[in-house]
Amino acid sequence: MHERSSVAELADRLRNELDRYSPGGKLPSSRVLVERFRVSPVTVSRALARLAAEGLVVTRPGAGAFRAEPRAAGPAVGDTSWQEVALSADATTELVPRTVDASGVLVSLAAPPPGVIEFNGGYLHPSLQPERAMAAALSRAGRRPGVWARPPVEGLLELREWFARGIGGAITAAEVLITAGGQSALTTALRALAPPGAPVLVESPTYPGMLAIARAAGLRPVPVPVDRDGVKPDLLADAFRATGARVFVCQPLFQNPTGAVLAPERRGEVLRIARAAGAFVIEDDFVRRLVHEDAGPLPRPLASDDPDGVVVHVCSLTKATSPSFRVSALAARGPVLERLRAIQVVDTFFVPRPLQEAALELVGSPAWPRHLRAVSAELRVRRDAMAAALRLQLPELALPHIPSGGYQLWLRLPDGTGGTSQAFGSGGESALLSAALRAGVAVTPGRPYFSAEPPAAHLRLSFAAVASTAEITEGVRRLRAACAETGSTAEA
Ligand SMILES: Cc1ncc(COP(=O)(O)O)c(C=O)c1O
Repeated sequence: MHERSSVAELADRLRNELDRYSPGGKLPSSRVLVERFRVSPVTVSRALARLAAEGLVVTRPGAGAFRAEPRAAGPAVGDTSWQEVALSADATTELVPRTVDASGVLVSLAAPPPGVIEFNGGYLHPSLQPERAMAAALSRAGRRPGVWARPPVEGLLELREWFARGIGGAITAAEVLITAGGQSALTTALRALAPPGAPVLVESPTYPGMLAIARAAGLRPVPVPVDRDGVKPDLLADAFRATGARVFVCQPLFQNPTGAVLAPERRGEVLRIARAAGAFVIEDDFVRRLVHEDAGPLPRPLASDDPDGVVVHVCSLTKATSPSFRVSALAARGPVLERLRAIQVVDTFFVPRPLQEAALELVGSPAWPRHLRAVSAELRVRRDAMAAALRLQLPELALPHIPSGGYQLWLRLPDGTGGTSQAFGSGGESALLSAALRAGVAVTPGRPYFSAEPPAAHLRLSFAAVASTAEITEGVRRLRAACAETGSTAEA
């Protein structure tokens, strides 16, 4: 049996029989539990640790595990309604109300209900994660001298050098800060570059987690449409003129959600337009390492062609490893670097050194390039399986672009087919979402990807977080049933 499920199972069984012991009473020894339940000592100690975390058991090293005494009654649950006033009544007259909405982020972090196929995940399925290589890296890192010492606040020099080499161009280690995942790097960058109330230009559609960061910082996201070649430069120039914005957030490579790659002729144009507007471009290079096997040579990061410090570059290891491998980099040139560094230090001090050391161990191991090649091959197979299943089962859903990197497909729902227009507004998306969940597949609605009114209803389907291509085929079949139920297909 899988270690994780046997821990859960043993914890359940022990939880159920805790009443047999009086409060403070001793539970059977680990050895007895090992024999009785026919599990390993590690499983026993993890199950006991789980019960201890729940407050049901107390473990005393050397003495054993005991049923916890009932907790002394704490103060009764008080009245927290005052917080509603405290969180909203801001004496300052902000132009843009700050709203903190985590839903767009939680979608890719929450585990789906059991039996539900996860087409809404934003990270690799555990079977695609380099679990062994990460475990080995972590254990080697744990033995490195000084692993628990304070790291330099900017990050370990060797790791900054590794990220700088990956970005390329003239970027040096001195221009790189180590951060705790792309989300935190984007937060630092947006807060550093735009004061509350300021407009920030964003691609449309774009990553809802970034829109959430902007709104939580009191910024005003202004959408600039993306087509299959990335952001439209003429509209970008118009948006800078109309808003006076000083920041544009861009994903030039395998954009989330469209998968678009910024066309070669647009790259220089985007930088020129931003430079002329006196604005920064935050380049979110989030899935460079999730390139598919059949992709041609990749364009370099915008930051590598940017002598004037227009680009603030963000890249992260999480997407190619695990959401828990929260190591990323912010790279920038010029005085802005000091602003970024100051905000990062004030907010988080630094990224835990053991994780930075583990990152160095991982990316320096022979397993790393092997892992990237394997993921690259598998993502291609999954992408093709999903696209083929969609074309066969749901030809009514438009699939305008098949990306050669990243982990998702972006589908446009048909306009007005299948009956009421309600079926295809955001209300229609959520009806489809609920029907899909009932049918056993979790999908992501398009609405949160648009910072203003969307041009059409969309769905985003991820193929990285599922267990296999068989799950992809089955998930599309379930989605077809949900579409038929809600009238989201022409035939329904
Ligand atoms: C476009 C984009 N940028 C950044 C992130 C943040 O990723 P992480 O914080 O895990 O590096 C995500 C996560 O889904 C994303 O889709």
